[in-house]
Amino acid sequence: MLETNIKPSCLKPEIQAITYAGSGDFVHLYMQPPAWGYRPGQFVMVRPGEWGNDPVWPRPFSICEKTSDSLRLFIQVVGRGTSLISRLQPGSTLDMWGPLGNGFSFDPDVPLLILAGGMGIAPFIGLCKRHPHPGRINFLFGHRMGIECYPFAELPQKVNKTHLNQQTAGDIVSFQKVLEKRIRDFSGRGRILACGPSPFLKVVRKYSIESGADTWISLENRMACGVGACLGCVTGTTTGEYLQTCTHGPVFRADEVVFEEDDRLLSAKPHL
Ligand SMILES: Cc1cc2nc3c(=O)[nH]c(=O)nc-3n(C[C@H](O)[C@H](O)[C@H](O)COP(=O)(O)OP(=O)(O)OC[C@H]3O[C@@H](n4cnc5c(N)ncnc54)[C@H](O)[C@@H]3O)c2cc1C
Ligand code: FES
Repeated sequence: MLETNIKPSCLKPEIQAITYAGSGDFVHLYMQPPAWGYRPGQFVMVRPGEWGNDPVWPRPFSICEKTSDSLRLFIQVVGRGTSLISRLQPGSTLDMWGPLGNGFSFDPDVPLLILAGGMGIAPFIGLCKRHPHPGRINFLFGHRMGIECYPFAELPQKVNKTHLNQQTAGDIVSFQKVLEKRIRDFSGRGRILACGPSPFLKVVRKYSIESGADTWISLENRMACGVGACLGCVTGTTTGEYLQTCTHGPVFRADEVVFEEDDRLLSAKPHL
């Protein structure tokens, strides 16, 4: 399922609609659709004109879905930038550049196991809806907030889907056991795609390496420019090289990247 019409550009799309889920902290932002196509897992950098100089940098968001009517982002309010975005009104415009990064690649005839943690569900909504054989997709979703906060119910009926809520430390341990079993059982049967907070991706990476699974993970390193210039988003790799997540990723083979062991990433607020 490789999109060919990927021609990144800088645009000023108009916001068509904003809808809210949960207690208003989960935002679906609908914009005029760009002419470009995209690969699931690619992202856009967004900076509303109203920001002035504060904050300075744009914010990266996965492309959730693109239809002939709109481009949609699914955003959780976690700080100043996302809070300002959540208060935008239909009719206002954004500065947006993309689609950026490599995105997920996969053969639609090969079974997929999708592992999503929290906001890591965003890139998989469009993927599952566009997939020609949704019955070949197994989908495991771990989340901390109520399921109604996430667009899980939009996944096509034919997708074999499960969601697990993680409220307590015990839930997290149980979820890790389910993850381990799913990865081991699926290894050798198809490709695994994963997106979510770093602690979640670390677990996915561990079991994937142990079982030899063909797993690809999408990193959510913090980004400033999105185009390889600022080096703010680098990730360590097993070759010892540091690569920009925005241009070499955000999707990497699970056994290609190294997570920092100093727990800096672990202490980052997980967007579950
Ligand atoms: C490729 C990519 C795709 C992404 N896709 C989505 C998406 O589809 N939907 C979505 O809601 N978010 C997504 N994110 C994360 C999103 O970019 C951040 O949540 C956003 O930039 C936070 O901006 P802020 O100004 O609100 O928060 P800030 O005020 O900058 O930070 C608030 C808190 O959030 C934490 N934080 C900020 N950015 C990140 C990050 N990248 N990873 C972990 N913690 C972070 C900070 O440490 C801090 O605790 C994506 C990130 C990347 C790199
Ligand atoms: S965000 Fe600037 S190099 Fe990646």
